[in-house]
Amino acid sequence: MTTSTIIASSAPKVQARTLSPEETHEIDHELTLYPDRRAVGLEALKIVQKHQGWVSDESLVAVAEYLGMSAHELDGVATFFNLIFRQPVGRNVMLFCDSVSCYIMGCERIKDHISARLGIDYGETTADGEFTLLPVPCLGDCDRAPVMLMAGEQYRNLTKEKIDALLTRVQQEQTNK
Ligand code: FES
Repeated sequence: MTTSTIIASSAPKVQARTLSPEETHEIDHELTLYPDRRAVGLEALKIVQKHQGWVSDESLVAVAEYLGMSAHELDGVATFFNLIFRQPVGRNVMLFCDSVSCYIMGCERIKDHISARLGIDYGETTADGEFTLLPVPCLGDCDRAPVMLMAGEQYRNLTKEKIDALLTRVQQEQTNK
């Protein structure tokens, strides 16, 4: 789910989409902070993802052209950073730690509960486009395992009850919109 899409040289050429004024404005700001345009690659991908929800091939090519680097080179940056999504994801991406401490503290049970409740496994998105569940390596909060990151907020000492309360709240907020 992070990125396995390499734009093969034999593949049809991907047309860049037009970056929005907001995207170019924010990328331009980043360009003032770095001595080399290519060094902005990761930040530019994060900006596109913030606005688009994920980074399509068309977005990747657009950013690469804007920064004067090859799409292959930029795709390498996206691959290295596992929080750049190269496929569509849900409105809420649940980044679920499955590393050692969380495993010892029973993250598998919590993950199974999420999967049962939402009907999705790792790498999948609910039919309503609300949630995507992804495994991630250690989130740096091992003493409060199991841990999950969603919408920029870290959820610690997870229990089935905490998951139920969180999912119910998010689903109610979406219903009320
Ligand atoms: S192992 Fe899960 S937060 Fe460190």
